[in-house]
Amino acid sequence: MDINSIPVITIDGPSASGKGTIAQLVAKKLGFHYLDSGALYRLVALKALQADINISDENKLAKIAATLDVFFENDQIYLENKLVTDKIRTEECGVMASKLASFPRVRESLIVRQRAFRQPPGLVTDGRDMGSVIFPDALLKVFLTASAEIRAQRRYKQLIEKGINASIVELQRGIQKRDERDSKRSVAPLQQSSDARLLDTTSLSILQAQNCVLEWYRECCTSERV
Ligand code: CDP
Repeated sequence: MDINSIPVITIDGPSASGKGTIAQLVAKKLGFHYLDSGALYRLVALKALQADINISDENKLAKIAATLDVFFENDQIYLENKLVTDKIRTEECGVMASKLASFPRVRESLIVRQRAFRQPPGLVTDGRDMGSVIFPDALLKVFLTASAEIRAQRRYKQLIEKGINASIVELQRGIQKRDERDSKRSVAPLQQSSDARLLDTTSLSILQAQNCVLEWYRECCTSERV
């Protein structure tokens, strides 16, 4: 089977925009595989924190990324056979992930691993560079965003539900800092590519956003057939 014929939907966007939730729902609806690319950067961050690696040591961080012993099972993530699904969601891991994601060699080490998720019958993936770098031939590319205030509220709710303490003001400040770092880095910066459709979810429910992506996907499938 030609790998390139397997449909891919990419959902890129800033921190806490809801792309993970929407991507997972769309994947479920279509019966597609799901790749949370941010989790890979967070896993490298967790491993680096555990091993006490200096954040400026690109070589060591790239080595961790290349040799990461990880597997995804249903909604759970295991690092070296230990369940780390919630552990990688802390702000500490998020900030570290955002910092090490600016190293070209770290990003390169994760490319093959990400592309391997392209399996029949299709893939939905979310991140920052899914449509621009990892799957440039994706059938549908979405750039999903929301205001920083709404994103901070969503992230707050998500963390509290996981039993992780948080402050909305601190979260909003952190989100803005992370946006800035992710948008200004020289490799694979966070930006809407010209062939991606913009979906602003500030005043949309999860269901409305999910249906919009599904509708766009159907349109893409139809126009591919004609
Ligand atoms: O959950 P949140 O959207 O805040 O972050 P994430 O998607 O889990 O990703 C964590 C960090 O990894 C981001 O701040 C990005 O810097 C980086 N990342 C990236 O550079 N490229 C990706 N495709 C995904 C994440």
